[in-house]
Amino acid sequence: MKDLALHILDLVQNSLRAGAQLIEIHLVEEAGKDLLHVTVEDDGKGIPAGTLEKVMDPFYTTRTSRRVGLGLPLFEAAARRSGGSLAVTSTPGRGTRLEATFQLRHWDRPPLGDMAETILTLLAANPEVDFVYRQKLSGKEFTFDTRQIKAVLDEVPINHPEVIGYLRRELRNNVNEDG
Ligand SMILES: Nc1ncnc2c1ncn2[C@@H]1O[C@H](COP(=O)(O)OP(=O)(O)OP(=O)(O)O)[C@@H](O)[C@H]1O
Ligand SMILES: [Mg+2]
Repeated sequence: MKDLALHILDLVQNSLRAGAQLIEIHLVEEAGKDLLHVTVEDDGKGIPAGTLEKVMDPFYTTRTSRRVGLGLPLFEAAARRSGGSLAVTSTPGRGTRLEATFQLRHWDRPPLGDMAETILTLLAANPEVDFVYRQKLSGKEFTFDTRQIKAVLDEVPINHPEVIGYLRRELRNNVNEDG
């Protein structure tokens, strides 16, 4: 079973392929309702209205390298298995928003996985793209925004090894490993 961090890594690849410049990832617990909301939102090219209903179909893909696209169907299946669902909304030319809901304490709810390393991998490989990661879990809130980091770094690239080392410590100290 894939953990949530690996699902998110897949979903962000879709956003990157759609030309997104800003990608927001939120993991938010609604404790009173035993829910976990996982949101991935981008400002990429979006999905045309007629296509939106097809994206949950494993045999729909705009990839040319292979004929099935499994990212969204697998994520939806994971949400459904844990008593939740996936909603996709998209505006062509403006972006796409995925929001999955999981029952937080459901037996089949995938573990969070290594979100810190997922974020580092994404920003190291895509230094020109901005990422916002927001986590509200167990009553604690943490926000990470590459736009703020870049403003402080000035000319130093965000994927400079020393910057990555610093960000790794920062993320490891603040990002939960399990839910
Ligand atoms: N964030 C997004 N922005 C624009 N289009 C998207 C986005 N996410 C998904 N899509 C569209 O939905 C299709 C299906 O996505 P899905 O992740 O399920 O499969 P895939 O990316 O084609 O293949 P795989 O994920 O297995 O590598 C994509 O080919 C793409 O056309
Ligand atoms: Mg995909």
